[in-house]
Amino acid sequence: MKINIVKDSKAAGQAGYELFKEQLENGSTVFGLATGSTPISTYDAITASDLDFSNCISINLDEYAGLPDTHEQSYRYSMNQHFFSKKPFKESYVPNGMNDADAEIVRYEKIIAENPVDFQILGLGQNGHIGFNEPGTAFDSRTHKVTLTESTIAANARFFDNENDVPKFAYSMGIGTIMDAKSILLEAFGENKAEAVQKMVEGPVTEDLPASILQRHPNVTLILDEAAASKL
Ligand code: GLP
Repeated sequence: MKINIVKDSKAAGQAGYELFKEQLENGSTVFGLATGSTPISTYDAITASDLDFSNCISINLDEYAGLPDTHEQSYRYSMNQHFFSKKPFKESYVPNGMNDADAEIVRYEKIIAENPVDFQILGLGQNGHIGFNEPGTAFDSRTHKVTLTESTIAANARFFDNENDVPKFAYSMGIGTIMDAKSILLEAFGENKAEAVQKMVEGPVTEDLPASILQRHPNVTLILDEAAASKL
């Protein structure tokens, strides 16, 4: 793992932007994208630049089940707002949270099989999750329906009017799906991610800490702020 420790999320955004730029220059065309607050500074740096994704495909990691794409907290809505409305791709795929789970899972894996991901950006859950793959998810999992843990629901409640409004289920690329990406960038900021970062980098590779599998991927870069790196 390459580890790049930066001062703050703004510096991280610039560092993330540089990696996207390098990928484009090297001919990458399929970008795996993530939501959450962490990648926003990178997306802001990209959308303010002259990078051109109009011949590229984006495939998002995950989506809440049961939220329509018009819901402000749906990941499709968030991606439209922070990225696609400013910097369009040829095609942008996000799981459809309103589709029946079995059909959606098959549809999404087919999209990924037809468009293997060149470069995947990830955030990190406080419990070490990637995408919505909670602790205990099999390392060889593919796109699946996820039951969110209490801690993830609590962590995401800040975006909803109250905790009861947070969806209980989501659709997510599996850990096996994520590991198929040719290269991966994981970003994590803040003290509340420091323990997960430490375990991801230095701990045993275990399904109890999903991101620890990244130790076995040949091409991973971490961009961390000083607080998230404070336990390394
Ligand atoms: C959510 C998302 C993840 C994201 C994580 C961290 O649960 N499913 O993809 O990485 O939260 O979010 P944040 O970046 O807001 O801390």
